[in-house]
Amino acid sequence: MKILLTGGAGYIGSHTAIELMNAGYEIVICDDFSNSKPESIKRIKKISGKEFPFYEIDVADKPALEEVFEKENIGAVIHFAGYKAVGESVAKPVSYYRNNLDTTLTLLETMQKYGVKNLIFSSSATVYGAPDEVPIKETAVVGRCTNPYGWTKYMIERILESVCVSDKTFSAVLLRYFNPVGAHISGLIGEDPQGIPNNLMPYISQVAVGKLKEVGVFGNDYPTKDGTGVRDYIHVVDLAKGHVAAVKYIENNDGLEVFNLGTSVGYSVLDMIHAFEEANGIKIPYRITDRRPGDIAECFADASKAKEKLGWQAELGIVDMCRDTWRWQKNNPNGYSE
Ligand code: UD1
Repeated sequence: MKILLTGGAGYIGSHTAIELMNAGYEIVICDDFSNSKPESIKRIKKISGKEFPFYEIDVADKPALEEVFEKENIGAVIHFAGYKAVGESVAKPVSYYRNNLDTTLTLLETMQKYGVKNLIFSSSATVYGAPDEVPIKETAVVGRCTNPYGWTKYMIERILESVCVSDKTFSAVLLRYFNPVGAHISGLIGEDPQGIPNNLMPYISQVAVGKLKEVGVFGNDYPTKDGTGVRDYIHVVDLAKGHVAAVKYIENNDGLEVFNLGTSVGYSVLDMIHAFEEANGIKIPYRITDRRPGDIAECFADASKAKEKLGWQAELGIVDMCRDTWRWQKNNPNGYSE
């Protein structure tokens, strides 16, 4: 089956492209490079040793997207394309709602026109907001999002739910990612944030490479083991393999299904800093600062449903996450830019 990856040049898309090809799937990528670089496509080809069709298009550009469906015999779509910066979404809500919803609606209209009924969506643990309890199960309450980025994920989930109600032969899988980190073991692809990173791991690795002075630890007075925030960090290659498992699942099932993709293990900010230091033999200076507004104390998955129904579970640990993040950062201090 040929699989279209929207936003396939991005961090999670690029790693998923490789795992899909490793598993024998044909892929097609489209991306407008609004938050990724053409170099990423070259490197996916280098790692896999395979060629695949690539289209530089905006998924909200319907005629351009229709041309892709016209030319390629698409069997399933993995929809990664979307804006994803939490802080920016608070500053530019209209742009976030417009972009993330438009791309999804245009994609769904095009899929309907061409009779494609298999979709995997990049959702996020952000839809759970501040959870009532951890570990978080898929049945937990959703819709307490704290920012427009999170609301777009929530809204797209509801749109896909409605599509599955209206068409019983449609198959949609919502993958709720916890905190993706790490990079491909080759060191050729990884996360390439624009400007100063917002997320913890890219921030640590930019301190390690000397681009930033110290990590600000956002609060040490949370009700956690060491007072710093606890998250479920998952290696991006494990996450990518979760998509392969989801593709196999939608080949055999109709309707809507939701899966948490996490490790079920929570690490604190200080755990991550110390693990990075130990794995790579580099000192990471840090300073405790105020809490970041909107942050929660603890968030980690109950990932048992994915294990049971997809036959998938995370295999890589915190040492792999830290080692692979550093290999990518060290080899590419400026990301994909020269
Ligand atoms: C955030 C988003 C989530 C998104 C994810 C992408 C929210 C509330 N969070 O998750 O939707 O999917 O990014 O990976 O919408 N920290 C520091 N110093 C830093 C950066 C982070 O101490 O410089 C701490 C944070 O307070 C938190 C932990 O590190 O406890 C992880 O933060 P981050 O990597 O930004 O991810 P989340 O906020 O969990």
